Amino acid sequence: MSLRATMHPSQHSFPVEYGETLLEAALRSGVALEYSCNNGRCGKCKARLLQGEIGEEIQSDFVFSQLEKSQNHILLCRCKPASDIEIEVHEIDNAAQIQKQEISTKVYKIEKINPELVILQLRTPRNQTLQFLAGQHITLHIDGLKPRNKSIASCPCNGMYLHFHIRNKNQDEFSNYIFDHLKTKDSVLVTGPYGEFQFDEGSERPAIFIAFESGFAPIKSLIEHTIAREKKQPLYLYWIVTHNQNHYFENYCKAWLDAEDNFHYLPLTLPEGTTDIAQSIKDIMPSIASHYRNSSDSTIQESDFYLNGPAGIFRTALEYLEKQDVPESQIHIDAMKRY
Ligand code: FES
Repeated sequence: MSLRATMHPSQHSFPVEYGETLLEAALRSGVALEYSCNNGRCGKCKARLLQGEIGEEIQSDFVFSQLEKSQNHILLCRCKPASDIEIEVHEIDNAAQIQKQEISTKVYKIEKINPELVILQLRTPRNQTLQFLAGQHITLHIDGLKPRNKSIASCPCNGMYLHFHIRNKNQDEFSNYIFDHLKTKDSVLVTGPYGEFQFDEGSERPAIFIAFESGFAPIKSLIEHTIAREKKQPLYLYWIVTHNQNHYFENYCKAWLDAEDNFHYLPLTLPEGTTDIAQSIKDIMPSIASHYRNSSDSTIQESDFYLNGPAGIFRTALEYLEKQDVPESQIHIDAMKRY
């Protein structure tokens, strides 16, 4: 049976499995806390123990002040609880509270999903994981190439393995290099994180995610994070592509459907030969609204929207939502500059 840690002042809580440190358990549950080294050196994961027992405290180099000692300060990355506990800790609730980081990573895996798309996995050093919020992006720096912004497709609950969905584009030096030359163990410098495309933690409204093609990447991170946080509101994913094969994580979405009662998924494919994507998105929006109306207890005006795709693609979708009187504050669009 797992123990429970409750945080003050937020009153949020998370389960702690046997053998886990408090930091590991918090991250697994999608709780955003300050941390960096994960090995007891930086002191960033400091918290105050208010109640409960620590069973095991792993040796660390960090030195607490006399005052901190007298106030029961602990390092969350070094402590495994022996009972339910209560801690006072600062929770990160917006992107501005996360420091910019620069981390030298190694290519861990390059997985070809189809002839046009790879999943690039980077691994950070164990003692320098990337802290970020779901939905954010970073800049990838590869020697000899112009730096490139990329959305992080993985969940912040694992800042050591970072996933990116890379589409191979004609005459695009960066993606061509990743497809044809980048190898396991090559070095890639990562800077960031950036961006404010993030889940509205304070909202209990249903969430509608609309992704275009590999714009699915940050949406995947947001959904994973939302599921980890055990959010109970309905989650709807509409994934629009130009060819069926571009639903490259179809099985993954179906696994969410099987496992999560509040998750709904509709894959959508634009008519063959579509050239004006923005116009097609505009044409498809009423179908999305109608599907949502027929399968949800809420209206689109009572729901939050998270849209991601190449710049400009969702301009027409935005116009549609505004015409339907969806409040602007409930529409979130990723404003990442691609290059
Ligand atoms: S994360 Fe650095 S001491 Fe815990």
